[in-house]
Amino acid sequence: MFEKFNLATDDVHQLGLLGALLIIVISVVVVGKYINQIKNDRSSGDLADENWDGIGEYKNPIPVGWGLSFFVLIIWSLWYILAGYPVKAFSQIGQYNEEVAAHNAAFQSKWNNPDKETLMGMGEGVYLVQCAPCHGIAGDGIDGKAAGFDRWGTASGVLDVINNGSKGLGYPMGEMPGGLASGDDAKAISAYVAGGLKGERPASFSACTSCHGEDGKGQGGQSPNLATYGTTTFVTDVLNRGKDGALGAMPKFNDGRLTDIQKEAVGHYILSLGEK
Ligand code: HEC
Ligand code: HEC
Repeated sequence: MFEKFNLATDDVHQLGLLGALLIIVISVVVVGKYINQIKNDRSSGDLADENWDGIGEYKNPIPVGWGLSFFVLIIWSLWYILAGYPVKAFSQIGQYNEEVAAHNAAFQSKWNNPDKETLMGMGEGVYLVQCAPCHGIAGDGIDGKAAGFDRWGTASGVLDVINNGSKGLGYPMGEMPGGLASGDDAKAISAYVAGGLKGERPASFSACTSCHGEDGKGQGGQSPNLATYGTTTFVTDVLNRGKDGALGAMPKFNDGRLTDIQKEAVGHYILSLGEK
């Protein structure tokens, strides 16, 4: 437990107080000295001829060091104005951004056509650094704190969405309520959606078309395009939008943190975690 505060035995506080006292004494002495100087000092030397309402100027040569600094500063300021920010709009942040962009472009062209293995390796690397803190190293979603990739993107994931609804992606249509279908209907819809809307369309899918469109493609961006659910295209879209959830918000990854190829790679990786 904490001991009761006792100044007599507490040397840290004693030192602190001593320091404060010293600062006060030094301040009083220094201020006193200057006030005295203002009162008593009389300058000496030759006065220049000019005189403005009784205020004159002594003929003192300027100190060499001051003069040199003055001229160097003028030259530097010319250089700064012409080569630096005002004319060339130079900024260190801009320079940093340019370097990052150049690096990303080189990265993107180097990995332009990665094979599956490279893509998975890159995806795992990105995942462990950028996603694992919230989604868990194994992608289990840390007890429902973020999406668990064992289900998300699969038919079970769609079933979860049908049961619980979905929100936080920031589509113009806003939230999707849960419970729009149930039982076998919900299962049939889930399989259809997880299969990329290919195959035979279950009649119950009509519960979804008012928002996702007759073709399920999201009515031109009003709601998610279900044809891409469970693909890297959908993951990339999530990464660009961010997502609110139990843990708070998932950040948007549309700020250049990840290149397109990295988004695709991490998409491959997390989709590989799901039951298929
Ligand atoms: C700061 C925590 C955090 C980080 C970092 C994070 N996420 Fe998320 N993610 C979340 C939360 C919270 C949700 C929403 C879960 C929910 O609906 O309850 C989510 C949901 C998702 C979803 C499902 C989206 C949907 O529409 O249901 C995907 C896919 C996803 N994240 C992928 C990623 C990937 C890939 C990364 C790394 C590049 C990542 N996340 C990094 C917190 C995070
Ligand atoms: C009232 C409009 C509406 C209806 C009806 C609707 N949805 Fe949605 N749906 C949305 C919106 C809006 C989103 C995006 C929600 C978000 O921000 O996460 C969404 C998201 C989804 C997602 C993606 C969830 C995720 O994890 O990212 C799936 C899958 C989905 N809907 C499937 C369905 C299915 C299947 C049906 C039919 C049973 C259906 N929706 C009916 C509006 C709707």
